[in-house]
Amino acid sequence: MILAANFKMNHTRATTKEYLAKLKECEKPEGLELFVFPPFTALDRYESVATIGAQNAYGAESGSFTGEIGLQQLQEFGITTLILGHSERRHLMGESQELISRKFKFYKERGFTIFYCIGETLDIREKGDIQSYLQSQLEGIDLKYEGLIVAYEPVWAIGTGRTAKEEEIEEVLGFLSTLTPRPLLYGGSVKPENVQNIMRIPNCSGALVGTASWRVESFCEMIEKIKEL
Ligand code: PGA
Repeated sequence: MILAANFKMNHTRATTKEYLAKLKECEKPEGLELFVFPPFTALDRYESVATIGAQNAYGAESGSFTGEIGLQQLQEFGITTLILGHSERRHLMGESQELISRKFKFYKERGFTIFYCIGETLDIREKGDIQSYLQSQLEGIDLKYEGLIVAYEPVWAIGTGRTAKEEEIEEVLGFLSTLTPRPLLYGGSVKPENVQNIMRIPNCSGALVGTASWRVESFCEMIEKIKEL
């Protein structure tokens, strides 16, 4: 099982340090892998029970890419885990599938663990053509890559408090499991109250959590709930 905290544009270097210190006190069940994705300015070589990853990176070692970070900046802190294709990058920052798949290829060639996010908008869900939309977000992605973790995050469930229904998640994860042998996560308003039910969904190997992960007490509560399973 995987439980990952995506801080997004929350926390500072100081509060990330405090968070990770408190996380150490929270007892983790065997077989649960923890990941924390702080903002770029808080990346460091922390001694942590969680693997630290970056929320995004540009597909180059270094160069003239204002506002981006690349391999050289990640290597300074021994970071080898990345989120790519998050819906906020796709929809708010306008990242194209072509750009995302180029980044994927670059970091795949360097052996990174990649949390690769996909998810349909409400409009697509209502039109009902979810599968072909998700497939378009997998274009150019090596679905057999051993460092790949796919996170299914319906856009309408992210940060809205509205979690997808279990049968909706099950249906999509079932479909994705026919495309890739790699672990599948769910993300979108996961919280202590629903994490157990989500973890029980067939083909679900874990959760990528935003809002409910920002307070370490709440993240620890989710770990506790997983321990009870
Ligand atoms: P949320 O975010 O838990 O706040 O819905 C999930 C995500 O964006 O990964």
